[in-house]
Amino acid sequence: MAEPSAPGTSPPPQPTLRDGDVTIRPWTFNDVEHARLQHDEEIAYWFGFDGIVPSAETQRQAIERWHASYADDRRIVSFLVEHRGEVAGAVEVRRLEGNTGRLSWAVFPRHRGFGVASRSVRLLIGYAFESLGLARVFAEVEPDNLPSLRTAGRAGLRREGVLRGAAATRGERHDYVLLGRLATDPEPQSRDGFLGILNAALPTKRVIAQGILRDGQGRVLLCELTYKREWDLPGGVVDPLESPALALVREIAEELRVDVRPTRLAAVNWLPPYRAWSDAVLFVFDLELVGVTPARLQETVTLERREIQALHWCTLDDAEAHVAPYVMRFLRSLDAAAAEAQAGTGARDTLYLEDGIGGTLQPEGG
Ligand SMILES: CC(C)(COP(=O)(O)OP(=O)(O)OC[C@H]1O[C@@H](n2cnc3c(N)ncnc32)[C@H](O)[C@@H]1OP(=O)(O)O)[C@@H](O)C(=O)NCCC(=O)NCCS
Repeated sequence: MAEPSAPGTSPPPQPTLRDGDVTIRPWTFNDVEHARLQHDEEIAYWFGFDGIVPSAETQRQAIERWHASYADDRRIVSFLVEHRGEVAGAVEVRRLEGNTGRLSWAVFPRHRGFGVASRSVRLLIGYAFESLGLARVFAEVEPDNLPSLRTAGRAGLRREGVLRGAAATRGERHDYVLLGRLATDPEPQSRDGFLGILNAALPTKRVIAQGILRDGQGRVLLCELTYKREWDLPGGVVDPLESPALALVREIAEELRVDVRPTRLAAVNWLPPYRAWSDAVLFVFDLELVGVTPARLQETVTLERREIQALHWCTLDDAEAHVAPYVMRFLRSLDAAAAEAQAGTGARDTLYLEDGIGGTLQPEGG
């Protein structure tokens, strides 16, 4: 891998690179008219330019600046993009601290939809890693700039997060999606590379595991918590790469110092967004205690006092005064299903609930 040029020496000439009918090459002053006249509203909108078509003087000055920053240790390397021998756009890498580079790209309207952006950004990234010796390249793209998000993915950039209010274009603040690629990432066309990009872009959802412990006298165990007013079932948030059942056993061991065994998945309960919380999926398991009876539980547990103040065995009516409305709806749904199963009028299936009540499983019109 080539190192940046030593201080005082001039960088090697900017190369011309090709992928099929797409070429990226250094700018010349002959490109001024071909480039500036093809600018459109899309480019002006996403880059936050005041006008649509830059003047010849503005375009000439931009080319001058790119030549100068190339000569200045390749601080910014801008390539003109050609498609089938015609001027078709521009791609750029701007070197930053820590051996990283910020990428940007634009393809003129007549040349869009042919994979020009994806191929030219891939050539640019190859150059940034091989010739500039960068370790990481990244781009910041507005969340509704779909063609650019796709271009980034096609060029092997993985979605890394959202920079809130980071953009100040068009007189307003906007979010940016941050997308990055490391020199060590597999090629985007390889299986691992493709799956890595896809995996980073797919949505994830919060998963919570809770458990129902019964005392044999019609009561369930509720926790009185330190961090919220309402009591709740024991359990907690499932960690990344952890199974819901294991998370539940872990949470109860940590918070109550008692071992439990999940015996059955009682319900899956989707919680819609609530106050500042995102939506979440709750897995609720029937539990049995290991090595202690319900009657001895209170004297056996050691509560994690930062989270749990006390434990309470509650009937439905006891619970009503202490739990959040969605928990109450959930407990009532569970109770109704248990009563139906006992009366022989319902199967003891796992319940599917939304916000604590029977979810919509029927197909459209069913
Ligand atoms: C973004 C831009 C460079 C894409 O150029 P392009 O040459 O048409 O892109 P490609 O042909 O390589 O297509 C890239 C991907 O975007 C997708 N795409 C193109 N237009 C799209 C649209 N309107 N909506 C959703 N996806 C779109 C393509 O289908 C392709 O994805 P796929 O290969 O999975 O099908 C071009 O639209 C542009 O110059 N936009 C304005 C400038 C800009 O936004 N620059 C980025 C600022 S960060």
